[in-house]
This record gives sequence, structure tokens and C-alpha cells, in this order.
Amino acid sequence: MIPHSRPTVSAEDAESVARVVRSGHLAQGAEVEGFERELAARLDVTAVAVVSSGSAALELALRALDVGPDAEVVVPTYACDALHHAVTRCGATPVLADADPETLGPSPKDVTRRLTRRARAVVIVHPFGLALDLDPFLALGVPVVEDCAQAIGARVAGRPVGSRGALAACSFYATKLLTTGEGGAVAGAAPRVARVRDARDYDEREDLVPRFNFKLTDVQAALGRSQLGRLDTFIARRRAIAARYRARLASLAGCRPPGDAGERHVFHRFVVTLERPVGPLLERLARGGIAVRRPVFRPIHRALGLGGYPEADRLWTHCLSLPCYPSLTDAEVDAVGAALAEALPT
Ligand SMILES: Cc1ncc(COP(=O)(O)O)c(C=O)c1O
Repeated sequence: MIPHSRPTVSAEDAESVARVVRSGHLAQGAEVEGFERELAARLDVTAVAVVSSGSAALELALRALDVGPDAEVVVPTYACDALHHAVTRCGATPVLADADPETLGPSPKDVTRRLTRRARAVVIVHPFGLALDLDPFLALGVPVVEDCAQAIGARVAGRPVGSRGALAACSFYATKLLTTGEGGAVAGAAPRVARVRDARDYDEREDLVPRFNFKLTDVQAALGRSQLGRLDTFIARRRAIAARYRARLASLAGCRPPGDAGERHVFHRFVVTLERPVGPLLERLARGGIAVRRPVFRPIHRALGLGGYPEADRLWTHCLSLPCYPSLTDAEVDAVGAALAEALPT
């Protein structure tokens, strides 16, 4: 079986973790501080607070922007449910925006259309590894949270993703671009990040302002630092896999692979758009030992029984995510390409 995703971990990672375990200091400490410094340098921001997941990062970023009851937050419907949950946990109302079929991210036009005076923030997901042009969103006059869960390391207009929004959220889940098993981070200007730091730890505070235990451990941070040191190697391999897929799929009728977006794309996912619905292919390829997936399990509006999101509906029907991760071999890429070619009618 060729899995759809797989963590990339090495003996070097294991040794970094073992060193911290042997030290006896397991909880948040010097490793977390070091990881935060290194991430801030990488993302070109003044401060980073690492937290226990990407979901926690989104929630604490929104809280640091004073998102609470009565506020609305615009989020893309063609994205994972974590966005909806983060907004509702703040007591605010998610307002869903339709997708842009060119980028697979939120449509600037639809986001603009759905903004009301109650909008306190907009969450912009850099979709599947592609750094979006933030200018149309920054021009809205509402704080932008960049969701970099799938795009850390991508650059647009000479800047890393995560460096231009009011805040940025990252995820370090096992199969993300770099991992701490579970984990996340909020990046941005120091005063806002200080609010995130305050909220992630409830212990020994004079007041009872709502706080959490959303801390990362030193054990996890050691893995994160080791992985961050290899992020460029990981991204280079992902781009090489994408180029190989593009070459294999170029002549395949009814299948549009993503273009070569240079430094803008880190290919967390390699998402092709098919002319036909992808549903029957999922099972057919699985029977041949290849796990492919819809890149989004289900658009959020469908779970809410809402209509009015035609582009997200179309992408859900026609988009397919192929295996794409550093440990995928060239032979496996070719096998996936050949299986897809065989499954599509000529
Ligand atoms: C775009 C996006 N945002 C947020 C998250 C949530 O991250 P986590 O699973 O670390 O909570 C994910 C997770 O897959 C994601 O893809």
C-alpha cells in the first residue's frame, strides 16, 4: 500500500528527543524557547508562541485579536473543520466564504461580499502549500490571521508566509511539513504573541481571566527543532515529487495538475483537478494499493446544511490529493501516476 501521507522522521530526530528525555526536563522549558526563536527567524516575525496544536493556535490567535461573543470571523468553507471550531470556541460566529477555483483558497471577492460591520477577523488558509497573495485580504481593513498549517516555508513576493497578517497560525501534526507529533504555533508581533503566551498557561495567576493548558513540551520542541533544521530539504523533495507528477500527468486528458509556482508552493498536498467526479476513483485506486483522498474531507457549509458555495462544491467533487511527502520514492510517484492514468478513460 502507498499511504496518502506519512511522517518523515530520522535517527537524528530520535536522538534529539532522547537527549531531552534523558535530561529529565520534559515540560515547557529551554527547548520550547529555542524552538520559538528559530521559528520566529524562519517566519520573519518578531515573536512566536508554540502551543499544543494548530487548533489551539487558531483559537488563541483569535482571542488575542479580541474575537469573542458578538464578533463574526470569515473563514473559508473549503478547509478543515478546525477553523469553524476555533471561532465557535471563542463564542463568535463563523461566516463562511466560497473558494477561488484558481488557487483553491478563499475567494477575495466572496470574502469581501460576506464582510459585515461585526467582522473582527478573517482567517486566510494558504491552501495545500500555496502561498496566497495577501494584498486583497489585507486591503479589507479587518485583521487577517494567516493559516500556515499547510504552507510553512512557502514565500510570496519575497516574504515568508505568516509574516504579513495580524497573526499567523501553524500546525505541527504528524504529517505536516514539519512535525512535533501534535503541536502548533502563533507568530506575529511581540505584544500580540505575549497575549497568546499568557493564555496558553493557567498556572499561578492572580486573576481568573480564561486561560488554558495549551503548552508544548520540551520533548516535542526538541523534535520540532530537529525537523526545522531539515525543512528546506523536505520542501526540496516535495517540489521534486510535484515536478515528477507534473511530467507524468502532462498528457493525461481530463486531469489538471497544479502548475510550478516556484517558491510560492511547498506541496503539502499535490492536488489535481479532474473533469469527472473523484468519488469512484478513491475506491478503485485503493483496491490497487494506492491511497488518494479528497484534499478537504467535506466543506464546512455542508455540515451546516448551507447552500450558496458553488465553487467549494465543485472542488469537493473534482479535486483529488495524491500521495506527496519526502519519503515517497520516485518509483512510488510513477506507480501513482500510472494507476491514475489507467483509471481515467482516454
Ligand atoms: C488549514 C488547517 N488549519 C488548521 C488545522 C488544525 O491543525 P491541528 O490538527 O494541528 O489542530 C489543520 C489541520 O489539519 C489545517 O489543515
